[in-house]
Amino acid sequence: MAGIKIAPSILAWDLGNLGKAVEISVEGKADQVHLDVIDGNFAPNITFGPGTVKALRRLTDLKFDTHLMIENPRAYVDKFLDAGSDLLTFHTEVLNGRSFDELHAAVTARGKEVGLAVKPRTALPRWAMDRMHKLSALVVMTVNPGFSGQQMDMAVMPKVQSLSRLVKERGVGTDIEIDGGVETENVAEVVKRGGTVLVAGAGVYGKKDPVRAISALRSEAEKARRPA
Ligand code: DX5
Ligand code: ZN
Repeated sequence: MAGIKIAPSILAWDLGNLGKAVEISVEGKADQVHLDVIDGNFAPNITFGPGTVKALRRLTDLKFDTHLMIENPRAYVDKFLDAGSDLLTFHTEVLNGRSFDELHAAVTARGKEVGLAVKPRTALPRWAMDRMHKLSALVVMTVNPGFSGQQMDMAVMPKVQSLSRLVKERGVGTDIEIDGGVETENVAEVVKRGGTVLVAGAGVYGKKDPVRAISALRSEAEKARRPA
């Protein structure tokens, strides 16, 4: 079984110095960098767009995990691919089976990966379950989209567990990516429930030593996975 992956979310860093946030991820040996794109419509914040992703791309080859919290992903999919995103995650709340298939085709035609995300109170729709084999990641949000630094909603844990079971039953290898409020204190619970990718904004960039925070999250995760 592959190890847990750590994905620092740069939204939690000084937005005037995102290059430094990426450097921290590289130095801390993160598995991927989580890039939160918010359009002010899907969620109540405006972050950054493809131009910023492109500028950051010059700094590293690390996997760019781009979380699109936007109303109209079709209009931007090529722009984020051109900018250098490796994984594009779309929200089920703005899609249906048909529009997903279109996006999936656009992304995979360029050799990149597709993820689907759900907000804390959204159940994974049937059309998404039927397309699980097409997904590199299922992003389960454990805070309402918009801002870094919120507390994890533990009521989402049963959904994490059932989606993780579904992935195992289907044998599809989709990552279960937990996004929102991940901290060393809740990593054990999240991993036991089946989380395989841990997104952490404040849990990395809010710490005094963010490079060390990445390895601290990883070691907590590894501990939780070891059989007792
Ligand atoms: C919220 C974003 C999350 C968030 C994570 O809209 O999708 O990725 O920035 O930050 P923390 O870990 O601080 O909740
Ligand atoms: Zn995110």
